[in-house]
Amino acid sequence: MLIDTYGRVATDLRVSLTDRCNLRCTYCMPEEGLQWLAKPDLLTDDEIVRLITIAVRDLGIEEVRFTGGEPLLRPGLVGIVERVARLTPRPQMSLTTNGIGLARTATALRDAGLDRVNVSLDTLRPDVFQALTRRKRHDDVLRGLEAARAAGLTPVKVNTVLMPGLNDDEAPDLLAWAIENDYELRFIEQMPLDAQHGWKRDGMITAGDILASLRTRFELTAEGQEARGAAPAERWTVDGGPHRVGVIASVTRPFCRACDRTRLTADGQVRTCLFATEETDLRAALRSDAPDAEIGRIWKQAMWGKKAGSGLDDPSFLQPERPMSAIGG
Ligand code: GTP
Ligand code: 5AD
Ligand code: SF4
Repeated sequence: MLIDTYGRVATDLRVSLTDRCNLRCTYCMPEEGLQWLAKPDLLTDDEIVRLITIAVRDLGIEEVRFTGGEPLLRPGLVGIVERVARLTPRPQMSLTTNGIGLARTATALRDAGLDRVNVSLDTLRPDVFQALTRRKRHDDVLRGLEAARAAGLTPVKVNTVLMPGLNDDEAPDLLAWAIENDYELRFIEQMPLDAQHGWKRDGMITAGDILASLRTRFELTAEGQEARGAAPAERWTVDGGPHRVGVIASVTRPFCRACDRTRLTADGQVRTCLFATEETDLRAALRSDAPDAEIGRIWKQAMWGKKAGSGLDDPSFLQPERPMSAIGG
């Protein structure tokens, strides 16, 4: 079991498969991209499957989420999903993607055993999409979403970050669109995890702003805390249901006390938190032929050191060195 000194148990593993991305979201990375991890530093498919096997078989992990950068850029993705689906007990498997290329791969991913996907989409307007992501791929994302729904990778969730002056007027339109298309929309507060270190608390759109904007057009009823469990998203029923909308308020309403996550970077480092300032090297253990039991021991020890919270409200808060795109969100 991966338990920490605050009694939290990690049952949810987020695995970053690559730090590369084919978009350049302004709240994430600069136009020129970043210094990507070198190939020999990346875990191989076999190494990833071995770590997930240890996590599921020995450490109590029940759910595996693949992230990036953009995880669809990882050539071995379908094979990794297929192998993880054969584990006992079989974990729930999901993917967080920007949706580019999903139209081509949704069926193969479903057939390999993927249960569901979360797709990032910040705007319904192609010109705003281009301003936000610096790429003309809006249509690819919409087609990816449709393919995911058609393949049964459901519920398909849509993640949206609102940026002042760009798409902050779009919340009600996005919700109307999500309801019409049967996607579950969640708004995410912008976090200080961008590679450029440009985040400012007074420049971000808060959960309060988002709810006020949605309430100009919809009636929202809060779901009980029991329904939430350890999920980052608080949810509201829209106009009496059945549709819902979520808000992930990492900054203004942190949910660290219920956190059930452990993270693995594409180069094999355990992170106990998105905002952790330290990492634990499992790749070195893997590559020095450590037995499974030893790798499990190192992982447990890492989680024992998990901090109480993100530290975002501490005056001494420092953004982690690794940006969001290399942690996997
Ligand atoms: P489901 O609701 O189970 O589908 O997943 P999720 O919302 O946890 O996953 P997703 O990858 O879609 O993440 C949505 C947003 O929540 C991203 O911006 C993540 O960075 C953020 N998020 C995920 N896990 C954590 C966490 O442990 N702490 C914080 N602060 N944010 C998180
Ligand atoms: N703050 C909040 N969300 C972010 N994402 C990427 N960078 C940030 C940030 N700095 C979102 C992406 C994607 C999800 C995994 O995280 O838009 O939906
Ligand atoms: Fe890529 Fe996601 Fe970063 Fe956008 S937010 S550049 S899609 S990793």
